[in-house]
Amino acid sequence: MRKTILFFLMMIFVFTIAVDAAQRGNQENGRRIYQSFCSQCHGVKGNGTGRKGTALGTKPADHTDKEAMSKRTDAELYGIIWYGGKSTGLSELMPSWRNALKEEDVWDIISYMRVLCECNGNGPEKK
Ligand code: HEC
Repeated sequence: MRKTILFFLMMIFVFTIAVDAAQRGNQENGRRIYQSFCSQCHGVKGNGTGRKGTALGTKPADHTDKEAMSKRTDAELYGIIWYGGKSTGLSELMPSWRNALKEEDVWDIISYMRVLCECNGNGPEKK
């Protein structure tokens, strides 16, 4: 009897970890892609000060801005990245990535961006 309970506790434990990891996406893969495709405009630290970005007419977004990033849901970020800035009324200087990246790469980038902003997409955190 005790073994059975232990077994079920183990299963719940393993399951919880698996679900959590899936929701978070692969941050390491996200970081790698972000550094190769996004950092030239958004900066190595994600704060909008990339070498190429500072020369643009519209300043690339600061992805470390907790308040601004909290207002964006993951789905919104996905749309901006996939279809480009223009599709959502932002500057067309923010390119569309649907021809360059895979869907799951974009989700990985988003999970990395949530590390950069130390926030989630559920609105500003309540204190
Ligand atoms: C050529 C420069 C450039 C590159 C490369 C670039 N961006 Fe952008 N991005 C911009 C600019 C400029 C804006 C600001 C648009 C505006 O405010 O109208 C922006 C805005 C954004 C926004 C909207 C932020 C917000 O909440 O308003 C997201 C999300 C974003 N970029 C993600 C990415 C990701 C992820 C990558 C890499 C896959 C990337 N960008 C690569 C220039 C770039």
